[in-house]
Amino acid sequence: MKQDLIDYAARLPKAELHLHIEGSLEPEMLFALARRNKVDIPFKSVEDVRAAYAFSNLQDFLDIYYQGMSVLRTEEDFFDLTMAYLNRVRADNVRHVEIFFDPQGHTERGVPFGTAISGVLTALSLSKAQFGVTSKLIMCFLRHLSEEDAFATLKEADPWLDRIDGVGLDSSEVGHPPSKFERVFAAARERGLKLVAHAGEEGPPAYVYEALDLLKIDRLDHGNRSLEDAALVERLKTEAMTLTVCPLSNLKLCVVGDMAAHPLKRMLDLGLKATVNSDDPAYFGGYVMDNFRAVIEALDLAKDDIRTLAKNSFEGAFLSDGEKRAQLAAIEAVLI
Ligand code: ADE
Ligand code: ZN
Repeated sequence: MKQDLIDYAARLPKAELHLHIEGSLEPEMLFALARRNKVDIPFKSVEDVRAAYAFSNLQDFLDIYYQGMSVLRTEEDFFDLTMAYLNRVRADNVRHVEIFFDPQGHTERGVPFGTAISGVLTALSLSKAQFGVTSKLIMCFLRHLSEEDAFATLKEADPWLDRIDGVGLDSSEVGHPPSKFERVFAAARERGLKLVAHAGEEGPPAYVYEALDLLKIDRLDHGNRSLEDAALVERLKTEAMTLTVCPLSNLKLCVVGDMAAHPLKRMLDLGLKATVNSDDPAYFGGYVMDNFRAVIEALDLAKDDIRTLAKNSFEGAFLSDGEKRAQLAAIEAVLI
């Protein structure tokens, strides 16, 4: 029975809306790039790396995530990283991806903005040409850095704005509320960019209100802690705000103690537009279908819930109405 639901989820066309491309760096590629670029890493083997991926909170993970990035140096590295992710998601029938990248994680190490973004963009266009997988690119600001740094990054992005679809906000949430970036987001909005922000992953409902009211986000990343505030839930529902939920990430970062306690089903029952995403698949134990499998096994999801999750992923995407209609029709065409 659960296996039927997993098979159904696997057959449905899906979009992934919450994926940090640097978080798709698998240990095998970490080693290969460390060797290629002669970068020292504090691990002896792939097993050694996987053993280090035990986190008690977001910061534990971020420390290792930023260390992992140090092997990414050349345009070819960013191309290989992105291509490996795009090849992997095709197996899960993911037809559209909206990818985050963290330029400040690279420019602060001396890797030029253009090097990182060129490699990512080349892979995205190749994937569209070869396999029809469409994409959007979202540049994230690291919230533990200053407003000034974020403005400098927005300026660096200027020559690339025709190939960047939106901006986001990630990294250490608690202590770095959305209000810190109100003016940067206003500037991004003036440039016609879509706006998303991580909020309510570890931070309180007040941070979600700030993301809505001050940043004026188009989509909410995570949002789990919104459920602590009934008025906020009502507002997210009224505004039909898409939440990019990441179940395996929530488990690995101890946002939930156990997958059976994950709020995904509750979110759907409350009428929230939740989606299923992998966040940092190389670090959290899997890609989109691994996340679907985990929630189907642990929660009491019905077939309608699975279809709703797939539909929400396209409805919440930054695609045109026509593109959305075509993907939604393809979902309806999957009968069993
Ligand atoms: N950067 C990469 N993954 C993240 C997450 N889950 N939360 C905040 N920042 C991140
Ligand atoms: Zn994230």
